[in-house]
Amino acid sequence: KITKDKNGIDLVTLQNPIGFSVQVSLHGGQVLSWKNERGEELLFRSSKANCKPPAAVRGGIPICFPQFGNRGSLEQHGFARNKIWEIDNNPPMLNHNNCNGNSFIDLLLKPSEEDMKIWPHSFEFRLRVLLTSDGALKLISRIRNIGSKAFSFSIAYHTYFSVSDISEVRIEGLETLDYLDNLHHKERFTEQGDTLTFESEVDRVYISSPHIIGVFDHGKKRTFLIRKEGLPDAVVWNPWEKKAKTITDMGDEEYRQTICVDGAAVEKSITLKPGEEWTGRLELSVLPSI
Ligand code: BG6
Repeated sequence: KITKDKNGIDLVTLQNPIGFSVQVSLHGGQVLSWKNERGEELLFRSSKANCKPPAAVRGGIPICFPQFGNRGSLEQHGFARNKIWEIDNNPPMLNHNNCNGNSFIDLLLKPSEEDMKIWPHSFEFRLRVLLTSDGALKLISRIRNIGSKAFSFSIAYHTYFSVSDISEVRIEGLETLDYLDNLHHKERFTEQGDTLTFESEVDRVYISSPHIIGVFDHGKKRTFLIRKEGLPDAVVWNPWEKKAKTITDMGDEEYRQTICVDGAAVEKSITLKPGEEWTGRLELSVLPSI
């Protein structure tokens, strides 16, 4: 189903037979909503979110491409999240996911002349957003170099999970890993704790993280499982009180209602030679906590 938001941008809604739904905007190819069978929102969106392009909506899953953060000369998190994507009506074959009860949409981003001036590389970024019959949300990215010289990029699916309260959240799967700490000049540290809990601002890139990461929310008695392929790193971000106050499109207390955990390729950029294609897959599922 396609509707328009108040700025005239297409929003695509996917539904599955058991009542889950996903909403994705052509602005940024950004997933804005993922709801369970009871209609409960699983992704955070700020009450102060600015939905007017080019700024990305504060919440959902903005895609950071071709740069993560300020690790390069481009604007923060690259330009893909600020662009209007198109619906790809004739995507090249993808063998998976055509099972009964799955619902999906294919989106496409190609650089404009303006993009080529700041990042002179010809690419096609294909994004399949898929809601499975059991309610999992899959994001499959395929990036192809259609130019005549190699290029390198970073990518992150900047996922804002909705949580009861940040004090009730723990993350499993990142114990003992090395991380780059954005709060300490991107220096490298090693995680010491058993599980990750939150008491202050966190802004880290965990390097070579496992394929599955668990985000446990004791308050809502809910567990998110993040499965990723082709995305070696995991970004964890919560701005906490002081930084949240400086973010104009986020309420002062809203940092308590979200945790960002991104499947990402940041530490080592990905290089594509002419004609080469890269695929990265993220799968989010939700379970009641045991
Ligand atoms: C995180 C970065 O991933 O995104 C943070 O590591 C940044 O440093 C945050 O503040 C939000 O970025 P933005 O551009 O959406 O405000």
